[in-house]
Amino acid sequence: METTPPLTLVFATHNANKVAEVQALLGPRYAVKSLTDIGCHEDIVEDAPTLEGNARIKARHVVEHYGMDCFADDTGLEIAALAGAPGVLSARYAGSDKDPEANMDRVLAELAGAADRSAQFRTAICLIQAGEERLIEGVCTGQILSARSGAQGFGYDPIFQPDGEQRSFAEMTTAEKNAISHRGRAVRQMVAHLKEVAE
Ligand code: IMP
Repeated sequence: METTPPLTLVFATHNANKVAEVQALLGPRYAVKSLTDIGCHEDIVEDAPTLEGNARIKARHVVEHYGMDCFADDTGLEIAALAGAPGVLSARYAGSDKDPEANMDRVLAELAGAADRSAQFRTAICLIQAGEERLIEGVCTGQILSARSGAQGFGYDPIFQPDGEQRSFAEMTTAEKNAISHRGRAVRQMVAHLKEVAE
């Protein structure tokens, strides 16, 4: 019996863990490659004013320069009392060295005494297959805590408590976080779509 070769799909990241996670969800019908795998080592300048724009810049770069189907993600923390900041600037909110501790200190200082501490993490994915572009979004709503809690995860996890939970993201296992997180939701939507088109 002849087997269909897997469809190659580039994930515009150098993070091998992110790639392995999506590969596990997609199964053998797809072969997911990282930027490192395809020899893409140039700096892709993410200078769009929105998460969607940055995801699009990364995905289009791969399609235009490497001629391969691709998807890219971009995530930000959007705080209501800060008019959606840090948003697209989440990684470098307190400076260009991308220091998560300094980023959390800045958010906590800006929210000191704030009555409204509601916030959401939002992940935008841009998927380009056969020249067709699709935007997918995953959101996780919650509250900014008044102090850090927990030591797992990364970024703003210690100060973000998802709605319906009594723990911060940093007090959850990776599996618990993935089940409810912005990125988990966006990736599962994309995987459902990819499985459908590969049938
Ligand atoms: P990226 O687009 O995934 O690189 O995320 C940009 C920035 O948003 C990161 O550097 C973190 O500061 C923050 N961030 C993204 N995802 C998460 C998360 O799941 N937890 C906490 N912070 C996050």
